[in-house]
Amino acid sequence: MNVDRAQHYDVKYRDQNYFQYRRWLHAPYVSSLIRACGLPEGASVLDVGCGQGFFSYLFHTHGMKVTGIDVSETGIRTADRLYGRFGITFTVADIHTAVFPERFDCLFVRSCSLYNTAGFAADDEPTRELLRHVKPNGTFIFAYNSNFSSRPSPTWRYHSLADVRAHFRRYPAARIFFSTRIGTWLLRRYALGPLATRLNVLVSEVSGMGGDLVCILGNPARERS
Ligand SMILES: C[S@@+](CC[C@H](N)C(=O)[O-])C[C@H]1O[C@@H](n2cnc3c(N)ncnc32)[C@H](O)[C@@H]1O
Repeated sequence: MNVDRAQHYDVKYRDQNYFQYRRWLHAPYVSSLIRACGLPEGASVLDVGCGQGFFSYLFHTHGMKVTGIDVSETGIRTADRLYGRFGITFTVADIHTAVFPERFDCLFVRSCSLYNTAGFAADDEPTRELLRHVKPNGTFIFAYNSNFSSRPSPTWRYHSLADVRAHFRRYPAARIFFSTRIGTWLLRRYALGPLATRLNVLVSEVSGMGGDLVCILGNPARERS
């Protein structure tokens, strides 16, 4: 178990909505991800580092069968209290050692500390490890909060689009985007595309507003249909 990481988030998660998520603001983002991946209702989704379960819940609202895992007991307790009644399975587990009865149709990993590293651009190891839990024709969604203003964060390593492209260079079908929350809310079905990405980068550079770097590795057959 990743004890330091778990304790770090156990303290933060005493606040039951530590990241101050708002459903009205984030739901369009998850809808756009699901649309971009062509994920069908009933698909099994593993949310790695699910924290307090907010994104697991948003996937559930689209009819997905969601499992959320996190090393933080406090996070999982809150997730289970808020969303367990909807049938989402939340478990305290470290992805490095977690064992699942079968692979998932989709693995979603958002802002997981696994990627909060200086070597991110060159180090494929976390992604390779996560892909072991995805079915051969499944979908992998990487999302990572970043900010393109020049002000760095003392606790969070912001990555650039170039870093994400470098990290996923081994996967030719990778689709890479950047999406600010308000941009996604405004653009809705057009939120994940090259033009929207350029617009969102500009907004983030000028305003300092954060957003998500996204990479989708998907089933090419489904992408063609
Ligand atoms: C920045 S938080 C993001 C939480 C959530 N994904 C979200 O977007 O709100 C990172 C989370 O990753 C979890 N985490 C870090 N390393 C992990 C690991 N090896 N296995 C499972 N969870 C992990 C932390 O406990 C923390 O809850």
